[in-house]
Amino acid sequence: PAASAAPAVPEGGAPPQGPTLFDWEFATDPYPAYAWLREHSPVHRTKLPSGVEAWLVTRYADARQALADQRLSKNPAHHAEPAHAKGKTGIPGERKAELMTHLLNIDPPDHTRLRRLVSKAFTPRRVAEFTPRVQELTDHLIEQFASRGEADLIHEFAFPLPIYAICEMLGVPREDQDDFRDWAGMMIRHGGGPRGGVARSVKQMRTYLGELIHRKRDDLGNDLISDLIRASDHGDHLTEAEATAMAFILLFAGFETTVNLIGNGVHSLFMNPDQRTRLQDSLAAGESALLESGIEELLRYDGPVELATWRFATEPLTLGGQEVAAGDPVLVVLAAADRDPERFADPDTLDLSRTDNQHLGYGHGIHYCLGAPLARLEGQTALATLLTRLPDLELAVPPNELRWRGGLIMRGLRTLPVKFTAR
Ligand code: HEM
Repeated sequence: PAASAAPAVPEGGAPPQGPTLFDWEFATDPYPAYAWLREHSPVHRTKLPSGVEAWLVTRYADARQALADQRLSKNPAHHAEPAHAKGKTGIPGERKAELMTHLLNIDPPDHTRLRRLVSKAFTPRRVAEFTPRVQELTDHLIEQFASRGEADLIHEFAFPLPIYAICEMLGVPREDQDDFRDWAGMMIRHGGGPRGGVARSVKQMRTYLGELIHRKRDDLGNDLISDLIRASDHGDHLTEAEATAMAFILLFAGFETTVNLIGNGVHSLFMNPDQRTRLQDSLAAGESALLESGIEELLRYDGPVELATWRFATEPLTLGGQEVAAGDPVLVVLAAADRDPERFADPDTLDLSRTDNQHLGYGHGIHYCLGAPLARLEGQTALATLLTRLPDLELAVPPNELRWRGGLIMRGLRTLPVKFTAR
């Protein structure tokens, strides 16, 4: 008999063990493993690299339901075993309290109050006003390497663009933005690695943001932090600690995600040259429709957030037919849900003009991505400008030499070496 890739189901016995998760091969291409889980063990208990046991939810219908289920709390205090793991779980919020009272770690009613406040500051209008500046930043970054004929698109483009964009939106003065770039670089490079440097960078960022908020109280400007202060001065209250945590989560949630939207997006286009040509032709014709639907499809096909952030069962519940105990961590695998053939036609095919595309790349429910309009603006500007200014952009190494970061929540490339005709 031919050898089968999937583990055999023992007759009448225990459920099959399933594919190996979280190793190097999985980091490179997790989609075959997710397909197996969706089919054989859709709500799957696994031991994470940190040693914590958690449920992985991989079907679209279950994922969407879990994201909106109020019995699944975002507050790490609901984790059954935080003390046992002595803060080494990798679950944000189990180690440091000060910065962690942010949107992704809290439930209603606190979440409702803070989200309402920040929504008053982070408006679609503010994002729209920011359009020319994002274009300028994009052009400037491309200018830095265009004459060289080669570049690492992650470090020279995808990485600096969102960090400068968010700094400017928040109102971090230009002369301080390179410090942010360094701190963020430390966090992204060593996220799962040496703790010392990361802890120091987080501390520096926290101190800086605290001081900036303090200064702005006396000198309000046309920026997001000033708007947050204004919003909090009208009835509702945002404590200084909450304001700092908010600025921090805006930076943090809006940074590595956008790096990976650009990196994974360009990579997917390289791997699907027919789709890339379609997009380039439509851009040359001055059309924007394919760019708009295309960004959504790139998010569905290989989005930046592989697993939604942590959730914890506050009571025993049934998810996709599986009993989940109170205190158990639940991880919703957005990348698996967005390739579910029960929801998407030809889910493993990249189709930039896909219209029936209610993907979960930005999450769902009350924690739905606050920054989605900014992410769309950055993603569309970055891809359109790259493909228009460097039309013969191509990968400079064989695809199998590309290395993916092995993080738990995010999916993204370490580097993306490209070449093109210098100009
Ligand atoms: C939440 C994805 C860019 C700010 C989320 C969530 C996802 C997501 C999946 C929900 C997580 C969960 O429920 O566990 C993305 C992707 C982005 C992106 C794919 C880029 C392509 C941004 C940007 C910002 C931002 C640019 C802001 C500057 C936030 C915030 C939350 C959030 C503040 C928490 C919202 C809440 O809990 O109410 N994002 N994001 N994101 N995102 Fe984004």
